[in-house]
Amino acid sequence: MKIMTSSDAQSGYTGTAKLLHWAILGLLAVQFVIAWAMPDIKRDTQPDTLINLHLSFGVLILGLAVVRLGWRLSHREPEPHDGLPPWQVQSARIMHWLLYLLLFVVPILGWMNASWRGFPVNMFGLFELPKLLATRAPGFRWTGDVHGLLANYAMLALVGLHAAAALYHHFVRRDGVLQRMLPG
Ligand code: HEM
Ligand code: HEM
Repeated sequence: MKIMTSSDAQSGYTGTAKLLHWAILGLLAVQFVIAWAMPDIKRDTQPDTLINLHLSFGVLILGLAVVRLGWRLSHREPEPHDGLPPWQVQSARIMHWLLYLLLFVVPILGWMNASWRGFPVNMFGLFELPKLLATRAPGFRWTGDVHGLLANYAMLALVGLHAAAALYHHFVRRDGVLQRMLPG
């Protein structure tokens, strides 16, 4: 039997957790560029290539978020970095769960809105996914606005704060917090 030492517990996230963390960051960057470049969606807008790419990348991010949450719940969380004040440990924990929440709520609302608009959600032209709502289902018009607002404001603001905290630890505090999420 392997006895866990405190240095094991400190050793940070698993390779899979790191890969998923940075892959989702990369896909989100692509997703925001597409979102801002795609045409304004009006009542009679037909989905063009950019809109279809937005739907496909969005569902891909949702799929990776599911895998990532599954991994997170089935693996031991590394112990907080040594010497951090409790308020920082607590706020990082709350931030991480809020980010997880948005990684689900934002794409699901997008998918609901695509269904509401009657857009087929076709994954990179390979296969079509089911609709989450009937086209123009009464009472679901808001899904598009809330999707865009949560992505453009809540998600960008929280990711910004989260990244700023990581960079503060690395460049100002010069502790090992960022290293816990870096390869190696
Ligand atoms: C985490 C993943 C996602 C992010 C970050 C994201 C981001 C965004 C953003 C920022 C906008 C607003 C664009 C603007 O500023 O005008 C938008 C609009 C939209 N997105 Fe997403 N999106 C994601 C996933 C999805 C998914 C999975 C779908 C559908 C399968 C989707 C469908 C839509 C639709 C239909 C709109 C237009 C909404 C409207 O204007 O009424 N999105 N998205
Ligand atoms: C430049 C951007 C980013 C940097 C520098 C960064 C950095 C980090 C670092 C250093 C950790 C480890 C913190 C600790 O050990 O307590 C971490 C964890 C985490 N990050 Fe980020 N991150 C970035 C972007 C993102 C994005 C875009 C998301 C999701 C929307 C995200 C979600 C998370 C979550 C949920 C955790 C907790 C660990 C886990 O469950 O995987 N991060 N990040």
